[in-house]
Formats: sequence, structure tokens, C-alpha cells
Amino acid sequence: MTATVDLASGTRMPALGLGTWPMGDDDTERAVLDAARAGYRLFDTAENYHNERGVGRGLRGCGVPREELFVTTKFNRAWHGEELVRSYLEASMKRLQVEYVDLLLIHWPNPSYDRYVQAWRGLIQLRDEGLVRAIGVSNFKPAHLERLREATGVLPEVNQVQLHPYVTRPEERAYHFQHGIVTESWGPLGRGDARLLQEPVITTLAAQYGKTPAQIVLRWHLELGLVPIPKTSSPERMRENLEVFDFALARDEVAAISALDDGSVMGVDSDVSGH
Ligand SMILES: NC(=O)c1ccc[n+]([C@@H]2O[C@H](COP(=O)([O-])OP(=O)(O)OC[C@H]3O[C@@H](n4cnc5c(N)ncnc54)[C@H](OP(=O)(O)O)[C@@H]3O)[C@@H](O)[C@H]2O)c1
Repeated sequence: MTATVDLASGTRMPALGLGTWPMGDDDTERAVLDAARAGYRLFDTAENYHNERGVGRGLRGCGVPREELFVTTKFNRAWHGEELVRSYLEASMKRLQVEYVDLLLIHWPNPSYDRYVQAWRGLIQLRDEGLVRAIGVSNFKPAHLERLREATGVLPEVNQVQLHPYVTRPEERAYHFQHGIVTESWGPLGRGDARLLQEPVITTLAAQYGKTPAQIVLRWHLELGLVPIPKTSSPERMRENLEVFDFALARDEVAAISALDDGSVMGVDSDVSGH
């Protein structure tokens, strides 16, 4: 898989990756090995998934040169501080067995804790020092992003948010696009929601293109310029989820899938939830 997107700092990020939650270390190691063999180069983990060691073992064992791999991790609010993020990164890099992390994200803003600006200052410093190639956030709303910009003049390169055809976040995507922030989609398949993969608009397009419903949904993300990170522990599904670069959806087909968002499925509210 060679398709990539360019981040604001010039770092190239694969256009699709493997999610690893909620796998433990052993399952994650196996999944990373299988996925690397299938052609995946982006692997998404977090302190909170308790599987960074598994990712590290998989990356070590897969035989792909480090510079071709792209590892993303994220940290909990306990590390929201200018120096604290450095402590987290040092420990995380040991678990991941890497000398640098490709993309480091603040996992949740935790506004009631009110320390994400300090964490962001720490991330800027780590990028300046070359310990991380790119920096970003996850589950940030435009108001949180504006606060980072006002405080530091620096915006995240990536915002990883819950996004799929039931939760399409048009205003947030527009803000990201306007500010050169790449939107990464977590829960891209609606977390395997059978209802989503059985929607007539999706199954009809699947039949028309000779693709599976999951492939239609993943292609929808790509058409919108989003980077999806579907999770699966099945090698067959890993291949299926990667085989989405050989066809394209028409604009009206993309719009028909987006129309599945009728506001009835609520995304997680990051002003309230987080860790
Ligand atoms: N930043 C955040 O706050 C945050 C929050 C949640 C998740 N994430 C990240 O985003 C990743 C993806 O999100 P997610 O795991 O919640 O949801 P998801 O990727 O939308 O859905 C995963 C589910 O879909 C199933 N699946 C995968 N491929 C399929 C296919 N081709 N056909 C049918 N079903 C398929 C998987 O089952 P099998 O495994 O059995 O195949 C699994 O049950 C996570 O793994 C994690 O890395 C980030």
C-alpha cells in the first residue's frame, strides 16, 4: 500500500492504517505482523490500549525497514504537561522499541482538567527535537483547536476523530480542511455496526462495484480525504480493508452515503468524555 497524504510539516502519512484497540499485546503483535505482510504501514496504538509492547514486537518482527513504517500513539491526561509529555514519550518509545514516533497525539482534550495547552507546548518541543515526526490531537473540537492556535500559533497536523457514515462531522471536517489539518477517522466502519454495513445504499454500491460493504465505506472515507484506521484481527479482512485503492465512488454516491447521517447517532462528546 503506497498511497499517502502529506501532513503540514511535510511528513508523509499512509492513507489508511490498522487500528489496534481492543487487542492485547499478543493479539496485537500477531495483527501487526499479518498487517505488515498484507501491506499496511500505519499502525495506530495508544497508552490506553495497553498494547504498545505488542505493536513494538510486531514492528520489530515484520522485517519492514523502520523508515517505511508509521506508528501513531497517544497519551492520557495524566501526561498533560510540558515536561510530562516527554516522560510519556520516553516510556512509550521503550515499549514500542523505536527511536522516534511518527505521530504523537493528545488522546482527549479533557477540558475540565484544562491542561491540554501545556501538553501541546510539550509536543511542539518534541517535534522540534526530532523525537516525533508529526504532532496532532484526537477528539478535539474546533473550539479546542482554536485555543491551541491562540496560545501557541501552532495547529495540529492531524485530528483523529470518531467518523463514519452515521457521524460525518461536516463542520469539523471543513474547519480541518481550511486549516490544513488531516482528519483521521476512528471507528471508520461504525465499530463493525452490522446495521451500517447492511444499509441499502452501501450494499447496492457494493454489488455495483464488486466490492464488500466495508470496502465501500472505507472508499467513502478516502473520497472525503479522510484517513481511516479500521481495526481487524483477521488477515482476510486486513486484505479486504486495504483493497480500496483500485476504484472510485462518484460524487453523488459519496453524497448518498453521507446522507446516512441523519443526526440520530450521537458521536462521543469530548467535552464530557475522555481519559
Ligand atoms: N482516538 C480515539 O479516541 C479512538 C477511539 C476508539 C478507537 N480508536 C482507534 O480507531 C481504531 C478503529 O476503530 P474501532 O476499532 O473502534 O472501530 P472500526 O474499525 O470501525 O470497527 C472495528 C470492528 O469492525 C470489524 N471489521 C473490521 N473489518 C471488517 C470488515 N471488512 N467487514 C466487517 N467487519 C469488519 C472488526 O471485527 P474483527 O476484528 O472481528 O474483524 C471490529 O469488530 C481502533 O482500533 C483504535 O486504533 C481511537
